[in-house]
Amino acid sequence: MEENILSAAGVRQEYRVGGRKKLLKALDGIDLELRKGETLALVGESGSGKSTLAKILVGSLAPTAGEVQIDGAPVVGRRSKLNAQRIQMVFQDPYSSLNPRITIGGMLAEVLRFHRIVPPNEIRAESIRLLNLVGMEEDVLDAYPSQFSGGQRQRLAIARALAPRPEVLVADEPVSALDVSVQATILDLFASLQRELGLSILFIAHNLAVVQHLSQRVAVMYLGRIVAVSTTRELFENPKHPYTRALVDSIPRMSAGSVNDLFEVQGDPPSPIDLPQGCRFAPRCPLATDECRSVDPALLEVAPGRFSACIHTDRLAPYAFAPKAEEAAL
Ligand SMILES: Nc1ncnc2c1ncn2[C@@H]1O[C@H](COP(=O)(O)OP(=O)(O)OP(=O)(O)O)[C@@H](O)[C@H]1O
Ligand SMILES: [Mg+2]
Repeated sequence: MEENILSAAGVRQEYRVGGRKKLLKALDGIDLELRKGETLALVGESGSGKSTLAKILVGSLAPTAGEVQIDGAPVVGRRSKLNAQRIQMVFQDPYSSLNPRITIGGMLAEVLRFHRIVPPNEIRAESIRLLNLVGMEEDVLDAYPSQFSGGQRQRLAIARALAPRPEVLVADEPVSALDVSVQATILDLFASLQRELGLSILFIAHNLAVVQHLSQRVAVMYLGRIVAVSTTRELFENPKHPYTRALVDSIPRMSAGSVNDLFEVQGDPPSPIDLPQGCRFAPRCPLATDECRSVDPALLEVAPGRFSACIHTDRLAPYAFAPKAEEAAL
């Protein structure tokens, strides 16, 4: 039995919008488990609620309902010092996430001091160790963030996140703002941190191609719900939810080798203020039937360790030409 380090149960987040007249359901009942030492990808299109969930998981936003636990202990709504030590976040934009007026050495020392990670006389050595972990050298200690490129800044942001020696990293689209050529090097860094430090990582992305080499499992989000969970390999060979299938098909190299009919998702997602009755994916789903338009499907275990919120999983065949996950381009 694999051990969970972080879990969310029944998490909801609602906002009053439009002069408080309407209810926006950003998260509509989320159950999610991150296992010790794994990288779990959380994938979904813009507005599906990924960042909202990330903030709730790290304790910087209190949910409307539901519970989050780290290692069996509740994560309190307000970000406590203990939480901040155990679970750290890396953000999308490395330009705004580093304070431009503080040197890299100053930034790392501040975190090390705050969490009392090492005695004061070891702060410099510990800072160098952190820089080495992210592939940087001692000579950057006296530099300011403006002297670095986007990829280097993201490495520095990761070093800062590692400073409190957290067990869990939540990375919210950490490569989306970077050049494609730099993205792969940062993904490699996450993979080596998972391996070498035994970190548990929740890696958020809106694109499946980004996470296929990095994550062991994938959770797919759609309009405030998790609609599918599986191992990354199974997801690419035999997706069990039509939305997942459409996401795989949208990776160019995957569809090029496929003899299956391509799933194309039509139009934009419905508004989270005005969710459709029944399955929230039905208005865009090529498999939708009348039942889908009236009954909201639960996330059920459809095969060992595989979950899907779709009543038509039997109509989704494995890829006839199973695309090799390793072959699809970024
Ligand atoms: N403070 C807020 N007040 C009102 N609505 C909000 C608030 N924060 C988020 N939302 C809404 O909640 C939904 C989920 O937003 P969220 O930022 O979590 O999505 P996301 O999946 O991270 O999207 P992206 O890929 O664009 O980052 C969206 O409809 C968004 O407009
Ligand atoms: Mg986001």
